[in-house]
Amino acid sequence: MQHPMPILRILGLVFLLINPVALTVFASTDDATLESAVFGSGDRKQGYDTDQYVTNSLSITARKGAKADLLKYINEPILGLPAVSQPVDNIATVEKVELGRLLFFDRRLSLNDTFSCAICHIPEQGFTSNEIKTAVGIEGRSVKRNSPTIYNIAHYDILFQDGREDSLEQQAWSPLLAHNEMANPSIGYVINKIKAIKEYQGLFEQAFDGKGPTMETVGKALAVYQRALNSANSSFDQWKYGDDENALSQDEIAGYQLFAGKAACASCHLIGADYALFTDNQLHNTGHGYATSMGIKPPKTRVQLAPGVFVDVDNEIINSVRQQPKQNDVGRYEVTQNPYDRWKYRTPSLRNIALTAPYMHDGAFSTLREVVDFYNRGGIENELLSPLIRPLDLTEQEIEQLIAFMQTLTGSNVKTLVADAFAAPIGDISKEDPNWAHDTQYSD
Ligand code: HEC
Ligand code: HEC
Repeated sequence: MQHPMPILRILGLVFLLINPVALTVFASTDDATLESAVFGSGDRKQGYDTDQYVTNSLSITARKGAKADLLKYINEPILGLPAVSQPVDNIATVEKVELGRLLFFDRRLSLNDTFSCAICHIPEQGFTSNEIKTAVGIEGRSVKRNSPTIYNIAHYDILFQDGREDSLEQQAWSPLLAHNEMANPSIGYVINKIKAIKEYQGLFEQAFDGKGPTMETVGKALAVYQRALNSANSSFDQWKYGDDENALSQDEIAGYQLFAGKAACASCHLIGADYALFTDNQLHNTGHGYATSMGIKPPKTRVQLAPGVFVDVDNEIINSVRQQPKQNDVGRYEVTQNPYDRWKYRTPSLRNIALTAPYMHDGAFSTLREVVDFYNRGGIENELLSPLIRPLDLTEQEIEQLIAFMQTLTGSNVKTLVADAFAAPIGDISKEDPNWAHDTQYSD
């Protein structure tokens, strides 16, 4: 006889059913499919030409990917990016990349077996979450910040939007243990679970000189997979660093000149002589965090219903249906307790920015237009505003050109990396997996 499922498990399943990510699947990796996977939203709900919305979601088992040679993206710099620096005690190997990929996509690495890293860092959504402003963790728990992309993560000196971590090897344990993300009760819980899952047998030992799964080796494997997700050689890179004069249009070039000149974006989103990180790896106050914290905002919020379909909703209505109070966010101050660090956030790289909406640490802006309008107004005045932020006096045409420039920053290998991600199993719980964590009390 079937035993009743624990209530948490049922909630997890319901969440999966309503979560577009879990339903987002593709029949094959032919070019058209990948095109829409990479540049469309998760379940391809583009267009809305017909009255009736039809989703193209397919069964997850029908999803086919194509593994890529990821190690190459660590060992050979891509046009536009510098060489990847690696910690001496965790040099990348094929074994580590493969193991890290398995872990990143494995939903069993969460308390109720539903939540992998990729549920928030969704490959076909620029390794971020296009459809929600701030992340939602296990069982619908709110996370106060927007899920940033993992693309080019190897090139940050400081991690998280408040720079509270500086090592990918250590970073992974934050989401694994956070109550509102993957909610594992302890490090030992995760390690024991991995040890008991058949697919991992021998893999850690092969990758780490005989060492099995430990806090250190789990972090190292995840770090190496993520360090490989380098994406550049964009049209901009081909124009700037590849001597291809025709890679950008006149408007895009004008946008670049504004970015580096009149609009002074490049004073924080750096562009160097040999490569461009589009970040200075520093923290700044643009006024956006201040405005959010102080509740300074327009009376309406722009909500995206589907790609390109927006409605302006009264904030009063949004607040009336909000179930959990909005959590305050003071940025870097939360790490240093220095009052001068209030509302400072790390400069995000703008590579692949066309793929990683919504924008800012709280996902407040749905479009690049809103971001540029924000900067054009001079950010938001506050006593700690960065001196680099000031009104820009851009014309309508200049605004369009700046946006056109930012849209040239999509890496040429994005489709390859998405197809590679699709090749990873998603870690469905199987009969052979350890069920001591959930079902023991219900067993015969
Ligand atoms: C519930 C959604 C969620 C899950 C699950 C999740 N993340 Fe994240 N991730 C986020 C959010 C939100 C942030 C930004 C937090 C902040 O800046 O304070 C983040 C930040 C990061 C960063 C730093 C990015 C940057 O720009 O500095 C890395 C790296 C990362 N996550 C990797 C992982 C890995 C590895 C896993 C799985 C072990 C994982 N994440 C699971 C939501 C998630
Ligand atoms: C003072 C340094 C600074 C300057 C100058 C600056 N930025 Fe930023 N930019 C930041 C910081 C810091 C953030 C993150 C703010 C946040 O999350 O609240 C950011 C965020 C962004 C984002 C959102 C990125 C994402 O992934 O969410 C875009 C797009 C952007 N900036 C474009 C521009 C453009 C275009 C200009 C020039 C008009 C510009 N920036 C000038 C520091 C700067």
